Amino acid sequence: MAKRRAKDKIGTAEGRGIAGEIFRQVQAAIEENRGQAGALIPVLQKAQSLIGYLPLPVLQIISRDLNIPLSTIYGVTTFYSFFTMVPRGKHIVSTCMGTSCYVRGGERILNTLQKELGIEPGETTRDGLFSLEMVRCLGCCGLAPVVSIEEKVYRRMSPTKMKEVLSSYG
Ligand code: FES
Repeated sequence: MAKRRAKDKIGTAEGRGIAGEIFRQVQAAIEENRGQAGALIPVLQKAQSLIGYLPLPVLQIISRDLNIPLSTIYGVTTFYSFFTMVPRGKHIVSTCMGTSCYVRGGERILNTLQKELGIEPGETTRDGLFSLEMVRCLGCCGLAPVVSIEEKVYRRMSPTKMKEVLSSYG
C-alpha cells in the first residue's frame, strides 16, 4: 500500500521525498550497471518494475547519473513497447493482432475491448483498472484469437467471451 502511494506521487516534488526508498533502489541499479555496455536497458527495467512506469524525474536522474542524454533515453523508452512513461492500469489487457489472431477475428475482439472499456490501445481507463494494448503474437497462434491479462492467456476468444472475462476482473 505504501509502495502504491509512493508510485502515485513519484512524479511530484512531494513524491521525491515519499518515494525515497524507490529512488534509492533506482540509484543502486545505476551503480550496479554504470560503465557497462548496455547499462541503460537494465536500469530502465529496474525502475519500471519498481514504479510501474517511467516518470520524467526518474529518467532525468538516470540521464544525469549514467551520463546519457535525455533524448537518447526517450528514444529507447519509445522504441521498446514494454517501456511506458504513463501510469498503467491495474490490469494490462493485451490483445493479439498478429496474423493468425487477426484473420480469426482479432479485430472484433479489439473492437469489443475498446467499446467495453471506452479506451483506445495505449490508454488506461479513468478508474485505473485497465490498460489496453496491442501485441504482435502471444505464441499460441493455433488457439487464436488470443488475449492476455497479466500472466493469464485467454484463447479462442469471441466478443461474448471477452465481455465475460472482463466482468470477472470488475
Ligand atoms: S498471432 Fe496471435 S498468438 Fe500468434
